[in-house]
Amino acid sequence: MMDLFEKCRKYDRAKQVQAAGVYPYFRAIESTSGSSVVTQGKRRVMIGSNNYLGLTHHPRVQEAAKKAIERFGTGCTGSRFLNGNLVLHEELEARLAKFLGKESCLVYATGFLANQGTLSSLVSRNDVIYSDRENHASIIEGTQVALGDTIKFKHNDMVDLERVLANTRKKYDGAVIIADGVFSMSGDIFDVERAAELAKAYECRLFIDDAHAVGVLGPHGEGTGHHFGIQNDVDVVVGTFSKSFASIGGFVAAKEEVIHYMKHVARPFIFSAAMPPAAVAAVLECLKIVESEPQHLMNLRRNAAKMKTEIEGLGFNTLNSQTPIIPLLIGDDYAAFQFTQKLYENGVFATPVVRPAVPEGCALIRTSYMASHTDEDLDYVLEILDKLGREFGIIGCGSKQSELASLAQQHFGV
Ligand SMILES: Cc1ncc(COP(=O)(O)O)c(C=O)c1O
Repeated sequence: MMDLFEKCRKYDRAKQVQAAGVYPYFRAIESTSGSSVVTQGKRRVMIGSNNYLGLTHHPRVQEAAKKAIERFGTGCTGSRFLNGNLVLHEELEARLAKFLGKESCLVYATGFLANQGTLSSLVSRNDVIYSDRENHASIIEGTQVALGDTIKFKHNDMVDLERVLANTRKKYDGAVIIADGVFSMSGDIFDVERAAELAKAYECRLFIDDAHAVGVLGPHGEGTGHHFGIQNDVDVVVGTFSKSFASIGGFVAAKEEVIHYMKHVARPFIFSAAMPPAAVAAVLECLKIVESEPQHLMNLRRNAAKMKTEIEGLGFNTLNSQTPIIPLLIGDDYAAFQFTQKLYENGVFATPVVRPAVPEGCALIRTSYMASHTDEDLDYVLEILDKLGREFGIIGCGSKQSELASLAQQHFGV
């Protein structure tokens, strides 16, 4: 026998990084402005956030949240199923379904729970989930809770997806192909077009987690399906309000019969308290703003395009990102921690991505851009990236750049 806590005593990975003075996690933020934060008394440009449209500080969003608190109080104190269902939740569901072009929608307390609830309620014992290897942790948790089998395919590799479908599909009853629409760390877009063709050919349903795509991709930010113009081929869209929608909460959108079923069966929905009133009201207002103020999406696209061009121009490998998530391929975990620390000391807040979130030796610094960044913010970030990139030998060094290019090719297929 062994003490259950033995593993905790032995766990020293974080402590090693702390001891080296490059620990990048749990930095306490003292205040924020939408494009920058203050930590340890110093302003730092935020390039590690998911606040893509910059709406967390929009006066209308803040006002809507305050009004909801006055009307409904600070919490729902129960599940939507029982005592926590507000008219606000229903208004949001109706509006969001319309925005996404789906029949119906269900709002969860978080996006994490939305993925768990969707997979655990829809995938039964004889069903199968085909899941991209780089899917978000909440999808992975969902596949572990679901009773059916899970078969992984190589990241965004439609040849591999077809291979596993051809080898296994006949063994199961129902099937779903699931992937992030925009991958949260590398910023690449899932090949929804080809996946939709394969879903049809092999009689699978197609689920897309559009956490990083709603508000970002598509003509008005409706997500990945709309980006490709094939929204009707995506059977289920899951998402979150913790990114473009400047709040917290999650959703799933699909046909009415699917949502009705989930509402009465999904345990993460039924047995977890409802999204609080201020959070729902903030999302509702964001949705109205997304529909009426296109300038936020235009600014986001302008800022993302500028940063992609400039960062690649400096010589960084960005894994050919097509979205506001622009990773910088660094390679070694420790170098990524050091680089992030130097960015921080120079007034830029970003986050490293190390194994197991990426393959060994493929550490990244995840940078992401927002509508609310000013040119001054972005130019400052570029100046610091240029300086540090050279200091670390990531740019301005042909052999290192070729080494990173071959890593990108080998592990990310770009
Ligand atoms: C792709 C993806 N799906 C789901 C989630 C979970 O969303 P939430 O923060 O609402 O739990 C996230 C958030 O990090 C995400 O990036």
